[in-house]
Amino acid sequence: MNAFTVLGIETSCDETAAAVLRFSEDAPFKAEILSNVIYSQFDEHAAYGGVVPEIAARAHAEKLPPILQKALNDANLTIKDISLITAATGPGLVGALLMGSTFAKTLALGAQKPFIPTNHIEGHALTALLTEDTLKPPYLLLLASGGHCQIVHVEDVGYYTTLGATLDDAAGECFDKVGKMLGFTHPYAPKVEDTATKGDATAYAFPKPKTADELDFSFSGLKTAVLNAINKEAQKNTLTDQTKANIAASFQHVVATSLAEKASAALQRTGAIPLVVSGGVAVNKTIRSALKAVAEAHNVPFYAPPIQLCTDNAVMIAYTAGLRALHTSTPEKLQNIAFKVRPRWPLEEMSLPTSTE
Ligand code: KG4
Ligand code: ZN
Repeated sequence: MNAFTVLGIETSCDETAAAVLRFSEDAPFKAEILSNVIYSQFDEHAAYGGVVPEIAARAHAEKLPPILQKALNDANLTIKDISLITAATGPGLVGALLMGSTFAKTLALGAQKPFIPTNHIEGHALTALLTEDTLKPPYLLLLASGGHCQIVHVEDVGYYTTLGATLDDAAGECFDKVGKMLGFTHPYAPKVEDTATKGDATAYAFPKPKTADELDFSFSGLKTAVLNAINKEAQKNTLTDQTKANIAASFQHVVATSLAEKASAALQRTGAIPLVVSGGVAVNKTIRSALKAVAEAHNVPFYAPPIQLCTDNAVMIAYTAGLRALHTSTPEKLQNIAFKVRPRWPLEEMSLPTSTE
């Protein structure tokens, strides 16, 4: 089999997505995106100030059939043309994961196709390999999303060492909470970034997070400091749009500086390897440019996937399953129709099967 197609389904949080990719066995890191369909459940959760797990699961159930249909139509294929089916089976919201994976497994059984469970974080970790022609492992990954903030040494497909992780809130979660405290509506983080462009990043000296291991993250102290500043301004009746912009800019500056310092310290440990940023927070321009500066200082290349592939999507899920199948001599061992969803699923457990196992 020289070329094969993968259908991927993503439902780990509040995005319902399906995508079809075509792989060639001659090109170990490349794939062609035949379709990429995403439905973001912003409206469903807007009234609640955050993602409501039960509502997310119901919305996935409702949206999955038309989204699958569109993904196949856009790819100009039918389910018969698909070689293997995958879904994000963790980490994430358990009800949301169950919807997507049960849908995908049922589809696989009906169409008699193999099903491979895929780790959502591995999807974020590998995306840059799809979009950047010159990138190859090993590289240092800074993954900053709503639920995760970690620094990973990606030695190869299936070989990951987490060098640091968040002790409390993830960076994206902190952006969301600060946006909420500033009175914005869901989705909060892009509004924090937008208002920060009008603010003075030196207006507030928020504390830089400190951790026992310099590669770990902690953002809850920063969040409390921002909340205190907001409350103080509100009491004085000075919480104007300009004050909010100053708070947002000062907050964003501390997050960017902190992420940049951790990335720099990690590069000291790994030696000179490319720096890759991924996950929803990688969309943030201030954070991207702080990390780019770190890569330049270490004289290593810097890569960030295109914005639409940084946030949750099914391309990264299909890509990960296809890549894993290509990078093992026993791809049939990846198939697992009985796999249970895993709300927690560390990257370290993603080593590839070998012929002797
Ligand atoms: O990777 P992602 O789409 O989903 C998870 O796997 O969590 O990341 C979503 C997170 C949100 O929590 C949001 O706070 C963050 O990405 N995000 C941003 C921006 N846009 C989205 N953070 C900072 N600046 C942004 N412009
Ligand atoms: Zn994600």
